[in-house]
Amino acid sequence: MIEIANVNKAFHGAPAVTDLSLTVAEGEFAVLVGTSGSGKSTMLKMLNRLLEPDSGDIRVAGRDIRAQPPELLRRHIGYAIQSVGLFPHWTVEQNIAAVPQLLKWPRQRIQARVDELLALLQLPADFRRRYPHQLSGGQQQRVALARSLVKRPKLLLLDEPLGALDKKLRQQTQLELVNTIEAVGVTCIMVTHDQEEAMTMSSRIGIMSEGKLLQVGTPTEIYEYPSCRFTAEFIGETNMFEGAVVVDEPDRVEINSQELGGVIHIDHGITGPKGMHVWASVRPEDVRLDKQPLQPGANRAAGTVRDIAYLGSYSVYHVKLAGGKIVKAVVPSSRWCDANETAPTWDETVYLSWRADSPVVLTQ
Ligand SMILES: Nc1ncnc2c1ncn2[C@@H]1O[C@H](COP(=O)(O)OP(=O)(O)O)[C@@H](O)[C@H]1O
Ligand SMILES: [Mg+2]
Repeated sequence: MIEIANVNKAFHGAPAVTDLSLTVAEGEFAVLVGTSGSGKSTMLKMLNRLLEPDSGDIRVAGRDIRAQPPELLRRHIGYAIQSVGLFPHWTVEQNIAAVPQLLKWPRQRIQARVDELLALLQLPADFRRRYPHQLSGGQQQRVALARSLVKRPKLLLLDEPLGALDKKLRQQTQLELVNTIEAVGVTCIMVTHDQEEAMTMSSRIGIMSEGKLLQVGTPTEIYEYPSCRFTAEFIGETNMFEGAVVVDEPDRVEINSQELGGVIHIDHGITGPKGMHVWASVRPEDVRLDKQPLQPGANRAAGTVRDIAYLGSYSVYHVKLAGGKIVKAVVPSSRWCDANETAPTWDETVYLSWRADSPVVLTQ
């Protein structure tokens, strides 16, 4: 449905999008996630020709988007941006029907389409006469979505569509929005700066940083096999240990890390020579925390508890190693439930360890 090939865009010589390629299948819901200024909005705007790329190609449904005038292209594209952007002095119906009215649809057709969309978005039919200020934030967001769907677009572009909502409402609305878009069956690209939102909503995520698309994959692929440090740290939390490869065999790698004060052992090979400078990423939930000293060996370290964030079903321990590095460990609240010992507390010495299949080795 969408083929973006080697697209570049700079503003006054400063690159905003660099060599970006991505394909999105018909009916797919793809999310681009990245920090502010990473080029997400610029990429979306190039898809509906609010901006023109400096180089590269964009095809929608097999056709170069430059093959038709922008107004024609935009007829098939729904676009909704962060500020809900409803006209405050217009009713819900007038807001949804703004574009059909411009296009001089017959009155009955407009009415029927508004009815359909209100039903689809689970808004009561009599909401059509309300004004935006008489709706909750989530309802306003649904009206804005109805407005972008009114022309039955083939492609829906959403730029931080939930950005105006507070955290709680945002979470409620995320799944609702996915379900609606799936029900409509429209191909959708959404951008957001919120990693959790991207993980929750999409079957395929693209990670953007400084104008580049760093990695594309399912939420699980990206979480378990990040391709670089940025992705590993941006999606979820991780402990990153810098070091050098000291043993490099097909099924076994060892990394000497000063930050850890020891050796990281990985039970699979990596592509890279001995001596190579690498980072090993270990997720906090893979770090085991014990109160008793462990046998000496790889993948372990002792430290003192500096902070404990109690989060109900689990706690996150911040443990300071001898060299000063803070390592995070997720400890399930059930861990010290029925044992005779109590959970470790501030300033206590604890022993950290993880399995040899936990670390992901990153070279950039
Ligand atoms: N119209 C513009 N003129 C100049 N610079 C721009 C313009 N639009 C965006 N930029 C710059 O391009 C970069 C990417 O911006 P943007 O695509 O809006 O990022 P995001 O949506 O990921 O926050 C930023 O550095 C921004 O300042
Ligand atoms: Mg933006």
